[in-house]
Amino acid sequence: MTENKNELMEKIVSLCKRRGFIFQGSEIYGGLAGTWDYGPYGVSLVNNIKNIWWKKFVSDREDMYGVDAAIIMNSKVWEASGHVSGFSDPLVECQKCHHRFRGDQLEDKNKCPDCGGSFGEERQFNMMFKTYVGATEDETSVSYLRPETAGGMFVNFKNIIDSMHPKIPFGLGQIGKAFRNEIAPRDFIFRSREFSQMEVEYFVNPKDWKDSFERWRKIMLSWCDDIGLDSSKVHELEVADADRAHYSKRTIDFEFDYPFGRKELYGLAYRTDFDLQSHSTASGQDISYFDEESKERFIPHVIEPSLGLDRTVLAILCNAYTEDNLGDETRVFLKFKPSIAPVKCAVFPLLKNKPELVLKAREVFGMLKKEFSGVVFDDNGNIGKRYRRQDEIGTPFCVTVDFETIEDNAGVTVRDRDTGKQERVSLEDLVSYIKLKI
Ligand code: GAP
Repeated sequence: MTENKNELMEKIVSLCKRRGFIFQGSEIYGGLAGTWDYGPYGVSLVNNIKNIWWKKFVSDREDMYGVDAAIIMNSKVWEASGHVSGFSDPLVECQKCHHRFRGDQLEDKNKCPDCGGSFGEERQFNMMFKTYVGATEDETSVSYLRPETAGGMFVNFKNIIDSMHPKIPFGLGQIGKAFRNEIAPRDFIFRSREFSQMEVEYFVNPKDWKDSFERWRKIMLSWCDDIGLDSSKVHELEVADADRAHYSKRTIDFEFDYPFGRKELYGLAYRTDFDLQSHSTASGQDISYFDEESKERFIPHVIEPSLGLDRTVLAILCNAYTEDNLGDETRVFLKFKPSIAPVKCAVFPLLKNKPELVLKAREVFGMLKKEFSGVVFDDNGNIGKRYRRQDEIGTPFCVTVDFETIEDNAGVTVRDRDTGKQERVSLEDLVSYIKLKI
């Protein structure tokens, strides 16, 4: 990693903290490794991503059903899915400083990167967080925080068939938290111990899996475009047999060029009938599907587009971070797609000490607030400073009320974040002007 790439990540992490996007988890107590908290702008960014995902992957489609399953599930779910026995990473411990590392991520497997000491034998470390449900703490009350949201959808397959009577192909979609006790959480929110996933489990007739896989592949690429990721930074990787998860017969990883390297952003997997078959055997329930037309009964196969929410946030932030010269000044701005931006527009009175300007600006603010979520009012400091503050959080439009607004009924100025250019827009046209650009 070059110095520059390190510096860029440092700038992004620092902006996120300074401007209320992302904070270290439990910060006032020194933090808790692998946990992060979203602040006000962070949570708006997250909600915008979730809403756009939900619309594209679930609510706009007739073949998709949303679910929101419990995070703590019966431990038999994770025994059947293979996670209890196989969801592990190779762990090595330095015999001198006792620091622990993921064996497969070490550049030199014979030397501790922290103290130069040698390692003990590699062992498998299960990444699920174990807990106990109820007042007894013994093997009968063991449960796990889910390591993927997928499990909650597989165990509800029968409920959906019985309540919604869908025809195959159909899918379930869910957004929620997942937990993994990562040996080495790193790279800001890229690899954390608590994170969110946006996942689809799409159930198909086994003969159709290839077509369905191809369709979802294209949808995932178009999603990257929807959220404004530069397509030259998104790459597909056919995952080799030896590197695929235990349940997958084919996986494509979608990688993104993060400042710290090209790394996995999303995965698309062909999970066959592995999960439904395993849950059917382990629970003793019939989890098959009867096709009325062909009179066939079968266990559906699954195509799974799996998208990490936090890795999406990080890709969007890295993609958007821009430094340029505007006028005589260097500035930092986040070039978010307007639909993703936490704040859509900011409203300013040109001068703070002119009550008539403030009153009118408040009126414009109220009008815009009714139409858009993410509108702020700012009368603090000179106008240049206000523009810089909004640039830094990626606000696409700044609306200024000046004397011409009140004296000549000449509308307001709308300043474009990326070009810095200002346009006069009448008050009647303001809402539709902004709507057209979002
Ligand atoms: N249900 C399939 C599944 O969970 P995965 O490749 O292990 O597959 C899917 O995870 C996605 O979840 C990844 O592509 C990534 O976006 C996100 N993800 C996985 N582990 C993560 C972690 N420790 N921190 C943040 N995101 C993570």
